Amino acid sequence: MPISRLLGALCAASMLTAPAFAQDYPERAITMVVPFSAGGPTDTVARLVAERMSADLGQQITVENIGGAGGTLGAGNVAKAEADGYTLLLHHIGMATAETLYRNLAYETLDAFDYVGLVTEVPMVVTARKDFEPSDFPAFVTYVKANADKLTMANAGIGAASHLCGMLLMQALEAPLVTVPYKGTGPAMTDLLGGQVDIMCDQTTNTAQQIKAGTIKAYAVTSPERLALFPDLPTAKEAGVDTMQFGIWHGIYTPRGTPAEINQRLSQSLQKALADEGVVTAMAELGTTPVPADSATPEALKAKLESEIARWKPVIEAAGVYAD
Ligand code: MLT
Repeated sequence: MPISRLLGALCAASMLTAPAFAQDYPERAITMVVPFSAGGPTDTVARLVAERMSADLGQQITVENIGGAGGTLGAGNVAKAEADGYTLLLHHIGMATAETLYRNLAYETLDAFDYVGLVTEVPMVVTARKDFEPSDFPAFVTYVKANADKLTMANAGIGAASHLCGMLLMQALEAPLVTVPYKGTGPAMTDLLGGQVDIMCDQTTNTAQQIKAGTIKAYAVTSPERLALFPDLPTAKEAGVDTMQFGIWHGIYTPRGTPAEINQRLSQSLQKALADEGVVTAMAELGTTPVPADSATPEALKAKLESEIARWKPVIEAAGVYAD
């Protein structure tokens, strides 16, 4: 057989197998890595969508928490995983900020992953232990400026959303607080509730219920507008801090080289999960909303990640805060 015909046959055969491979997907359970501890805001979002996507895909999506290094440990694990559609990463803005914060990152952010889609963008809240003295945000600012060296602030490590928010807060107040890192703001919340740590800037997905219960104090939100959930809580901007207006966007990634048909199948499943009434209601109770269907796509997540790396690079460089 002439070599040209042999190559043509091999090419046709390989094209036949790729769609068949993707068409049978998924044939077994899937792992969704959350790069923070269980019980925190990232974990909460992941379990919400994983449950609905499992039902749609007909295979269980199991959440695996790999905390540490502000989310870069878990992300690094997925970067090295088999690109077969059976290992996913659900991560947030930290995927973009780590690119600047970590000068020796174990992976190239824009080369190591493929994209499924955006999930939700969650507002952050400046909170404190329930007996924290200040009664409102202006008093909080005055008190923190005067007592910075005596106050502790929890976060989930350099690269976490709680770290980014805390960094911006300390910059705005010119108050170098003592920071206390955890593997997630789930365990950090335990210490905030117990009064072992004073302040934490965290997402509504981890703070809404505590704020409602009065077990922590809330001072301001980072959303552009006040939250329907907490109409009395001022935005940081209206309280005079205009450098803290941002949301914690979350996305689902696969290792680079995952077949495009699989990323698309996962995106379709994600879009169905985000349209599910139960997910919409649960997210609303936690102060957030699902992204629209046309944002739960590989193209939208890729564009968001690229733009956010560019957005936060100068901010982090100006702060001069690095993890390594
Ligand atoms: C963070 O970046 O602060 C994370 O959301 C913490 C977490 O999910 O535990």
